[in-house]
Amino acid sequence: MKNEVYTASANANIAFVKYWGKKSDNIPFNSSVSMTLGNNVSTITSVVFSDKLQHDQLFINGVPVDASKGGEKAGLLFDVLSQMRKLAGVKEHALIVSKNSFPASTGLASSASGAAAFAYAVNSALGLGLSSRSLSIIARKISGSGCRSVFGGFVLWHAGNRSEESYAEQIKNENHWPQLIDAIAIVTEAKKKVSSSEGHIQTIKTSKLYKHRIPFAEENASRAVELIHNKDLHNLSELIMRDSNNMHATMLDSWPPIHYITDSSWRIIDTIHEINDAEGKNIAAYTLDAGPNVHIITEKRYSKKVLNEVGNAVGDIKFIISRAGGSPRLLPDNMALIDEKLNIIK
Ligand code: DP6
Repeated sequence: MKNEVYTASANANIAFVKYWGKKSDNIPFNSSVSMTLGNNVSTITSVVFSDKLQHDQLFINGVPVDASKGGEKAGLLFDVLSQMRKLAGVKEHALIVSKNSFPASTGLASSASGAAAFAYAVNSALGLGLSSRSLSIIARKISGSGCRSVFGGFVLWHAGNRSEESYAEQIKNENHWPQLIDAIAIVTEAKKKVSSSEGHIQTIKTSKLYKHRIPFAEENASRAVELIHNKDLHNLSELIMRDSNNMHATMLDSWPPIHYITDSSWRIIDTIHEINDAEGKNIAAYTLDAGPNVHIITEKRYSKKVLNEVGNAVGDIKFIISRAGGSPRLLPDNMALIDEKLNIIK
């Protein structure tokens, strides 16, 4: 274990029923449901514990992260690292290097794959052997949506009232609905103005609509599980679109208002409605996280038509296409993020 590099990868997830609004320790007000995406939207994290290190060092996308000056998220990562090290009875410091396969802060939930990869890699490097449920609780403390990326396929995060009750579990694995895809329309790669961590708090403190969202989202979560079981694209699509709209309505109702949807996002949203109307049933859904990029959920057999029409409506647009992917995994040594930073311990 000591001086050995462990490298793990975890995939992002897209919420069909959103998590928005949280109590301490990232315990949400409502349960949520997501699909874990494929390996093309993932975070890779390498970890090594070594007595040659004088202090913990963390690099995210090539940038050193300082525990005291790196903001709330950085503090959480170092706290979780200390807690896991204590649990393992290990004294050595860690060097952690993490990289996303997609742009961070674009509403693509990079924090989710990052949190899951971090928890999984540190667990492996410390030989802790924690269960997936425990890892989902740990990932949740770093980033709420991260608890869902600890599982592959289709995932339910039970809101719970206390930390031990707030964890994710798999509903169906990644082979359940191979036709289903998420085509992410990249409207912008710019960093978002209000981070989700700030947004969660601003909304629960100031939105008058928010109290109505809690029972609505809770009901959506139970119904989404049923619709995923039945692979019911028509009804699941309506649920996904309404849940996204409902969450964005509470954001807009916050004071000052929080808004992530741009003109291009609206053109995509309107196009999806036009396609579904013309078909007489829902063959596609849109859903947006805390950013303007639009996740288009559809089946492979409809994707050419849907993406062509969206492309015609908004002009030159890039899509990242992903399908349900697996749970976090350890990667072979040749995939380690070994660069000049890891030479520190050599
Ligand atoms: C809009 O998980 O990024 O993507 O717990 O503060 O890290 P923190 O928030 P985060 O919130 C994501 C919210 C969302 C919806 C979702 O993924 O459920």
